[in-house]
Amino acid sequence: MAESIRVVAFDLYGTLIDVDALVDALRQYTPMPEAACAAWRQRQLQLSNAASSGRYMDFDRITFTALHEIAPRFHMKLDPSSTKALIDAWAALPPYDDVVPALKSAAKSMVPMVVLTNAVAHTARNALAHASIGDFFSHLFSADAVKTFKPRSAVYEQILTLGVAPSEVLFVSSNDWDAMGARQAGFHTVWCNRRRAVLSPKPERTIDDLYALERVLSEYALTAF
Ligand code: LAC
Repeated sequence: MAESIRVVAFDLYGTLIDVDALVDALRQYTPMPEAACAAWRQRQLQLSNAASSGRYMDFDRITFTALHEIAPRFHMKLDPSSTKALIDAWAALPPYDDVVPALKSAAKSMVPMVVLTNAVAHTARNALAHASIGDFFSHLFSADAVKTFKPRSAVYEQILTLGVAPSEVLFVSSNDWDAMGARQAGFHTVWCNRRRAVLSPKPERTIDDLYALERVLSEYALTAF
């Protein structure tokens, strides 16, 4: 018998929201926009990882700090106006092309969909609104509510307040460490391997993009509650 899933949860940045689209905004400020974009994201993730084992600082602060830390390497002169332009660009990124079709298809099953993100709740809500995908989700869970970051289990466990068991949650993330963290919390997990990375140990399920999510979901008994 197919396993029962009562909530489908999504990571936000890199999974639904296209973080590489920042390259366009960075182009004005550095001759190396692609490398600066990758470095900004990487430093953001490093800082959130460090903050989850040390002193907590929220993801907005981390995003700002990471930008300032990487700027000199990419010859970026940050003043209040360029900083604001880049932080505003981070706040208004588009979804990946596969996101709306995947969410529309999943919504037909009536299973509740939620977002679980390291971002501060109001920033995440703004990002979802800018990407015009906020209405697909019944709840948004932010790491800021528990003052630590994924992949700490406490962040994932917030979903259980909906009254579901961990094994009734299917979590979708393009971040490998995030899929692993969700598995550790007892969720079923799908790693959306957008960058065709190699990962060992293997995550529970891997798809190349969210177009493949419909096929994965069809293998479970999706139950609305
Ligand atoms: C998030 C980060 C991990 O949205 O991208 O939680």
